[in-house]
Order: sequence, then C-alpha cells, then structure tokens
Amino acid sequence: MTPGIRPLIAGNWKMNTLVREAVDLAKAVVAGAGSVKAELLVCPPFPYVAGLAGMLAGSTVAVGAQDCHAKEKGAHTGDVAAAMLKDCGASYVILGHSERRADHGETDAMVKAKAMAALAAGLTPIICVGETLAQREAGQALEVVHGQIAGSLPEGFVAAGGVVAYEPVWAIGTGKVPSEEDIAAVHAAMRAQVGGTTRLLYGGSMKPSNAEAILALPNVDGGLIGGAALVAADFLGVAKAAG
Ligand code: 13P
Repeated sequence: MTPGIRPLIAGNWKMNTLVREAVDLAKAVVAGAGSVKAELLVCPPFPYVAGLAGMLAGSTVAVGAQDCHAKEKGAHTGDVAAAMLKDCGASYVILGHSERRADHGETDAMVKAKAMAALAAGLTPIICVGETLAQREAGQALEVVHGQIAGSLPEGFVAAGGVVAYEPVWAIGTGKVPSEEDIAAVHAAMRAQVGGTTRLLYGGSMKPSNAEAILALPNVDGGLIGGAALVAADFLGVAKAAG
C-alpha cells in the first residue's frame, strides 16, 4: 500500500453472468460493503452497466466498464463510446486488458487513444499492463511494463487520477502468482515511472488467501480481481484484506 492513497478493489467480471446472476452478485457485494474501507468497483459486461449503475447509485460500490471505443461516436457497429458509459452511470473503464490486447490486437497506441476518449468523457481509465511468461522468463518484465506504460498512458492521465494495473499475463486465471519480491520490483518501477499519486493495482489470481500479503507490499494500492470477483464473499474477502 502507499501511504495517503485509498486502495481500490475492482472486480472485472469479464464475459460472465446473465442478468439475474449479475444483479444477485452486485446486491451481495453492496450488502457486504459496509465494513470495507477500500473503494469498491464492479465492472460487469456492457449490457448490465446501466442497470447495475442505477441499482448501486447511492451505495459505496462504483460501476465501471471493461472497454470503450477511441472515437466519440459514429459508424462503428458493435462498439461502445465512453460518453455512453458515463451516461449510463459508469465512473471507471478498464482499458488494454491483456485479453483485449490478445483477442482484439489492441496496441499501446490504441489503448492510449481509448484512454484519451475515456478522460474526455469523464471516466477514470484503469490501464492494464503486464508481461507474458516468455517475456518474464527472458528477464524482460520490467522493460515490457515500462514500454506499455510509456505507450498507453495519455497526457493528463496522472492528473485525472488514472489507475494502472499490473497484470502479468501468465498469472491471470492460472492460480499462479509472482513472488512478493517480483510484484514489489515491478510496482517500484511503475511508481518511479508514473509518480507518487497514481493508484497502482495488482491483478492475477488474487483471492482472499493471498490478498493480504500482496496488498501489504509497497506501491500496491489495490487489486483487479477476475475469478474471485464472481463470488461476492471472495471479492469482499479480498477487499477486507486491504484494511
Ligand atoms: P483472475 O483474478 O481470474 O486471475 O483475473 C485477473 C484479471 O484478469 C483481472 O482483470
């Protein structure tokens, strides 16, 4: 954790839940949110953003989306603009997740353009970075993360309170987690690059049993949670580990 920075625990629901499940999950998160000191955020699939934002309005749980388009509006069939998400009640948007970089060929330049659109619409971007297993084994983790941050963060990102999430690709959904030393080393390098006020999250197989140790590391200001965010008790368990 970084003194003076309120931790953020964000759930990335990815392409999971039907309406009923999404509503039940969000309700269960709100029901347990009372004792949590960290800021809580849930990022459901697009179709549920408006409904959940309406449902959670006035609660301590914020709603975000998992992507947005770089353009303000126009002929982009199937895409969603940042202003639409803001209008639906979202306050955050995850950008450049490794699954989008892999599935949709998103480059740093594309992520940067999306982040500019998010900032222009008044959304807080959470930009994801992280090395693959091959890059880690080749000793390139710090260099890869540095390059992704340099290429993906637009001007004004830090001043607007943008968030960066370190998500090693090989730790996502695998149950594998980097050593505490390795997480701390990447986060220290990110801190040196982005400055003292930006929230730096860790993501990748976080769960209640490992959250306390990870969140206690210097420069780890919260978590981006995948699988464990689909079970309210687990998500809240991670959040409680943040203090
Ligand atoms: P898991 O927590 O399932 O490893 O996913 C992490 C993630 O990708 C969050 O964005």
